[in-house]
Amino acid sequence: MTIVAASLLSADFMHLETQVRMLEQAGVDWLHVDVMDGHFVPNLTIGPFIIEQIRRISKLPLDVHLMIANPEKYINTYIQAGADWLTVHGEVIKNDPTLLRKIRAQGVKAGLSLNPDADIGDYSGLFEDIDLFLVMSVFAGFGGQAFIPSTLDKARTAAVWREERGLRFFISIDGGINLDTAPPARQAGVDMVVSGSALFRSADPRDFVARLKET
Ligand code: DX5
Ligand code: ZN
Repeated sequence: MTIVAASLLSADFMHLETQVRMLEQAGVDWLHVDVMDGHFVPNLTIGPFIIEQIRRISKLPLDVHLMIANPEKYINTYIQAGADWLTVHGEVIKNDPTLLRKIRAQGVKAGLSLNPDADIGDYSGLFEDIDLFLVMSVFAGFGGQAFIPSTLDKARTAAVWREERGLRFFISIDGGINLDTAPPARQAGVDMVVSGSALFRSADPRDFVARLKET
């Protein structure tokens, strides 16, 4: 079964609790929270204050995707707010696993994400220190963009490394995921998908999530 994370970026924030309940009833496995700082990406979104409130109303794992330029300053804040999974970008931490290790040392799962134009070969040394590899299938920054098929090469490479090096991490994919793009992602070795606009736009989210899971 494909694990399904719902990206809250496409939720109606005037009715966030109702939206979270809808996602729970639709059967999503994780809530994906996109944190943007206006520096690493040209958009600003959700801070720890909102995550803390979501944490209070839901038991679903919180998969926090940090698209920020200074994650070292903020990881503790996001952990305290209730993040179960904390993903940082390779473009920000470069080839240095220190931050990933700090996240893990606090009992939180550490994720690494790469934008479509990043060369995964430059980050090979980080894969021993992660619990999640988040392939960006669009450029980080906005929901509702079109899936970039060439990004699946990163999932394939990560799946090979996982096997060859005897590692254990999930491979997730984020951006433009729908019922057409999820199957090739699964074939490329992806274990879980993040879905935002397609899920929130679907007429029957429960059916949509069930079909994504069956991918
Ligand atoms: C983009 C975010 C994604 C986005 C996915 O920067 O990381 O999580 O919200 O949304 P869709 O599914 O609309 O591409
Ligand atoms: Zn995301």
